[in-house]
Amino acid sequence: MQEQIINARNWLIQKKYKWIFKPIFFKFDPEIIHDQMSSFLNFFGKHTSTRKIAYWCFGYSNSILEQNILGINFKNPIGLAAGFDKNALLIDIMPSIGFGFMEIGSITAKPYEGNTRPRLYRLPEIKSLRVNYGLKNFGAEILHQQLQNKTFSSPVGINIAKTNSLETSEINKGIADYFFTYKTFQDIGSYFTINISCPNTCEKNPIFSEPQNLILLLSKIFSITKTKPVFIKLSPDLLDTKLQQILTICQKYPIDGFVCGNLTKENSLDHAGEGGFSGKIVQELSDQLIKKVYQYYDGKKIIIGCGGIFSAEDAYKKIKLGASLLQLITGMVFEGPQLISDINLGLAKLLKADGYKNISEAVGKEN
Ligand SMILES: Cc1cc2nc3c(=O)[nH]c(=O)nc-3n(C[C@H](O)[C@H](O)[C@H](O)COP(=O)(O)O)c2cc1C
Repeated sequence: MQEQIINARNWLIQKKYKWIFKPIFFKFDPEIIHDQMSSFLNFFGKHTSTRKIAYWCFGYSNSILEQNILGINFKNPIGLAAGFDKNALLIDIMPSIGFGFMEIGSITAKPYEGNTRPRLYRLPEIKSLRVNYGLKNFGAEILHQQLQNKTFSSPVGINIAKTNSLETSEINKGIADYFFTYKTFQDIGSYFTINISCPNTCEKNPIFSEPQNLILLLSKIFSITKTKPVFIKLSPDLLDTKLQQILTICQKYPIDGFVCGNLTKENSLDHAGEGGFSGKIVQELSDQLIKKVYQYYDGKKIIIGCGGIFSAEDAYKKIKLGASLLQLITGMVFEGPQLISDINLGLAKLLKADGYKNISEAVGKEN
């Protein structure tokens, strides 16, 4: 499709979202809306015809955005971050909405129904969400069964975490919990993300962000033959000394990259309450994390930039700081589903304007 047609199409959808759908959605509990939308999108993903309709409404492709990273083909750099599709219901539809890849989960060894409701809050004045799900998901066995014979039309990352319970706060049980999910999903998905930074579990601080525990976890993970790339998801709240320690440890293991990063606990804006914050609040923290990780490894590890992406400019900034791939959730909630192709279209323009022939040439150029 011509760029002007896509621009016009996105403009129309954005207006519809802003003036009709969003005001209705934002009147209801965010979790109810999310669950309803997931059921609707799950249905839409089941049929070729409805997937085609979704692609006409939201799709965009451009070879300048295509990359092969760690042997995986990405049609564009924009991925759906973990937590939106906890139970892998949207794998069929998300490529038609325009995503270049997606992460499912976090998946834990045991099923967990989540912390008590309400556990998801919108903060429209600061374009953020407060999230306190506490790693709700069906658990590794059920999800593995559900996905066993499925073919994926774009890369799917398996985000694994530790079951949210006091029992798994004991280090060996925690490691066994991660390892169970890691082993269970050896045959599914394009890469793993090990989430060591969830801020809304029963532990005050994520215990596997502690260096001595991380060493034990990674030793166990890499005790079996690695079958696909492994990423570590970092907290944007890590102090520099702790971050350096974690990165030094990770250097000793065959880790391919980092997701920078998770939700923040920083709530200086006085939105106190349980959980972590996404969106605008986390944007600058995520940018700084990308910058530090890129510098530490001199660009030799792959970075997935995640946190507060609302526009092509936000995305381009993360790329120039060192991210090869990007993920988002909150931007889509506030701006609408056309945001994905808007960002991709905008990125293609920004890259061309700077004289790049492919997105990979821009990675880390301002770091
Ligand atoms: C509703 C919601 C649930 C989330 N659940 C998870 C999760 O289960 N695992 C995880 O690694 N990150 C989770 N996250 C964090 C996101 O993956 C992402 O790191 C964060 O939201 C920052 O991106 P954003 O500003 O584009 O939303 C969740 C975020 C949101 C908004």
